[in-house]
Amino acid sequence: MDNFLFHAGTKIYFGKGEIKNLAQEIHTYGTNVLLVYGGGSIKKNGIYDQVISLLSDCNVIELPGIEPNPRIETVRNGVTLCKKNRIDVILAVGGGSVIDCSKVIAAGMYYDGDAWDLVTTPAKIKKVLPIVTVLTMAGTGSEMNKNAVISDMKTNQKLGTASNEMIPKVSILDPQYLYTLPAKQTAAGTADIMSHIFENYFKEDETAFVQDAFAEGLLRSCIKYCPIALKEPENYEARANLMWSSTLALNGLVGAGKAGPWICHPIEHELSAFYDITHGVGLAIVTPRWMRHILNEKTVEKFAQYGKNVWGIAEEDSFVCANKAIDCTEQFFRDCGIPMTLSELGINDTHFEKMAEKAVRIGGLENAFVPLKQRDVVEILQKCL
Ligand code: NZQ
Ligand code: ZN
Repeated sequence: MDNFLFHAGTKIYFGKGEIKNLAQEIHTYGTNVLLVYGGGSIKKNGIYDQVISLLSDCNVIELPGIEPNPRIETVRNGVTLCKKNRIDVILAVGGGSVIDCSKVIAAGMYYDGDAWDLVTTPAKIKKVLPIVTVLTMAGTGSEMNKNAVISDMKTNQKLGTASNEMIPKVSILDPQYLYTLPAKQTAAGTADIMSHIFENYFKEDETAFVQDAFAEGLLRSCIKYCPIALKEPENYEARANLMWSSTLALNGLVGAGKAGPWICHPIEHELSAFYDITHGVGLAIVTPRWMRHILNEKTVEKFAQYGKNVWGIAEEDSFVCANKAIDCTEQFFRDCGIPMTLSELGINDTHFEKMAEKAVRIGGLENAFVPLKQRDVVEILQKCL
């Protein structure tokens, strides 16, 4: 297990009605609030009205319309609003896109240059406005982590940035807020949670037993509860377990002490940068193809461990067990209703070479558990068609 810094600085209020703590937490930071939200789901499901009435004694400036795969232009608008209105605290109400956008806006408040610099050069993030979140979607873990992913569609760039300063101060997680999540987003969010776990689980290091045990437990939770949430959107137990799995999968716990690059995320970021697809859908399509591509003598025991501990596959032969586990993974995503080919999303091989070159370069894939070159990524993408 490598050395690590575990910094989880978010106060979490979890459960039914915990929104009652919102006003008191916001007041800790001030009364000039930038309320950031997406395309309108919070107006339909009543969360917006709840938030506005709780903040009746605050000066609330609104930034609606955050796109899934948030754009740099929207970040710039948010920075302008913050500077003009001397905002004290940003309240992000939504999923990962809203929270990520809020994080870079918060950093932009104290940066004199263009906000895109904060995406390309995380070291430029110094001081950041406090961020409070009300989570409405389980998937990214952005509610308790330092990451933000922003897109510039004009240049086909979707890049991640990170800073401990951007970790939300407070996040309110009420699983009832997931009841209105469409099936597509429930499934995509679960694929995202699972991918965050895979990215850390399938690593060179075999000594991080604790982290891998967490990983296997969280994966079992996703596999158990996603189908229930799809069938019964208002099943509290299912929504609660998915919501907490999302947070724990990417708050640093599972990846602590397990160095090395992620693989499927850099590849998915290229798919989104060129085709603006749903993050979790892209990951679900790429993951089983990547798994098959890297299954070999060196990796087989890890995949067999995954098969035994996560899927309960009782096979003596490691390769048989590993292959069954990968098949189960693919079938699980399919059963959740995720389109499992790029062709179904209208994507062909036009940009594969370019996307593969960028994924390898930006993601550092040549240093991965199983190193990948451009031609490997092209092969993986071709298997996704
Ligand atoms: O925009 P609205 O109308 O709110 O609708 C959203 C959006 O269309 C809808 N939604 C969210 N909560 C809802 C709801 N609809 C009904 N009821 C609710 N309760 O769901 C759609 C997707 O929302 P979005 O925030 O885009 O989804 P997600 O949470 O998956 O975030 C995706 C973004 O996060 C990035 C992704 O790349 C992508 O840009 N990621 C962020 C990470 C992080 N910060 O650590 C890590 C991830 O790997 C990921 O890259
Ligand atoms: Zn992700």
